[in-house]
Amino acid sequence: MITIVTLDGPAGVGKTTIARELADRLGIAYLDTGAMFRSVALFFGDGGWERPVDQLVPELNRLDFDLEGTGKYSELLLNGLPLAPEIRKEEVGLWASHLARIPVVRDFLRRNQQAIGRSTSLVAEGRDMGSVVFPGARHKFFMDASIDVRAKRRHAQLKSMGMDEDLERIRGQIRIRDDQDRNRVVAPLKPALDAVIIDTSALDADRVLEKIVDHIREKGL
Ligand code: DC
Repeated sequence: MITIVTLDGPAGVGKTTIARELADRLGIAYLDTGAMFRSVALFFGDGGWERPVDQLVPELNRLDFDLEGTGKYSELLLNGLPLAPEIRKEEVGLWASHLARIPVVRDFLRRNQQAIGRSTSLVAEGRDMGSVVFPGARHKFFMDASIDVRAKRRHAQLKSMGMDEDLERIRGQIRIRDDQDRNRVVAPLKPALDAVIIDTSALDADRVLEKIVDHIREKGL
């Protein structure tokens, strides 16, 4: 049987670390849907999505995402190739947030995400996993934290990947993304009604993971 666990929340909250660890513990695949939006944003380039919809659709149809492996070894592929490391730049995150307001882009990625979720059990991480993409998911979680905590977490994450970006700049970009992700018309960032909300401001990654694992154990996978 296929089990879907959704993990949503705003930028920089630490979803990726938790989702990857959780998938590893559960022995199922991990799907980073932000990486899909980032890859499409990089594919179009800065502002390249500001074209008429009838020009965007054929371009989108050239893209196909696949997911291989499980746990920490889960890997998203775009047209059979690993995703570009540049998608992790904070600037590309901002492009992704602009692009994510376009309904045809969301529809295209939602179909791709649901197709992946039909073929394998998943921890699916994003903004609208529990509310829109996998409304029937067995377990739904929504992580939150103050903007200061999130900016610092994102700064540390990028540093560990060899990208030393300015903390204030990161905070500013997260603020813009928060506003855009929460207020867009289609699939805005918000907890599903049946999601367990976890405020992670004062919790380290291990504690967050334990809380989530406890909930899953209680209800059963
Ligand atoms: O999780 P992330 O920072 O990698 O996501 C980058 C952007 O992509 C985010 O600001 C909004 C968009 N996104 C989305 O709209 N829906 C998702 N399920 C995942 C990401």
